Amino acid sequence: MSGMNSGGEGLEMEFTIRGMDFRAAGEGASRIKHTLKQIGFSPEAVRRAAIAAYEAEMNMVIHSYGGVLRARFYPSRVELEACDRGPGIADIEQAMREGYSTAPPAVREMGFGAGMGLPNIKKCSDFLEIQSEVGRGTMVRIVIQDKKTGQLLDPGR
Ligand SMILES: Nc1ncnc2c1ncn2[C@@H]1O[C@H](COP(=O)(O)OP(=O)(O)O)[C@@H](O)[C@H]1O
Ligand SMILES: [Mg+2]
Repeated sequence: MSGMNSGGEGLEMEFTIRGMDFRAAGEGASRIKHTLKQIGFSPEAVRRAAIAAYEAEMNMVIHSYGGVLRARFYPSRVELEACDRGPGIADIEQAMREGYSTAPPAVREMGFGAGMGLPNIKKCSDFLEIQSEVGRGTMVRIVIQDKKTGQLLDPGR
């Protein structure tokens, strides 16, 4: 982990992701999942957040030079942000389609590149925003809302 902060803004975690670093890949998502379990998020929200974080992290590993994965934890939701430097996405609508992938052959041989990452993030998240600039990089913002703890602990939302 690159950083952890629990100041007034609540708990925040930050992971540095390196392009093509398959050894460390998935570590950030795994820590986020673990933290959500400890906080007491419902299993279904933990599952959705873990999938979204993993797919966003893997996309930085596979498709970018590197970047930062951030998680901000609230009583009934977690906000994820994956920000990278890389080639960017020219056509986001096309990238969102099931089965669409530009993963190179070597990466496909490792079992990645099914083209289901972004569609899965979409399915798992309550909010998804993708900003990308070709030749610069990509920013993916995801919000997962825990409906159960939201009802029990956070009636204001
Ligand atoms: N962070 C990123 N930077 C550049 N391109 C990306 C990024 N994330 C996704 N893409 C593009 O969107 C496509 C679809 O992504 P995804 O659904 O996760 O499938 P996969 O990762 O299996 O290729 C990728 O093949 C790639 O072309
Ligand atoms: Mg992917």
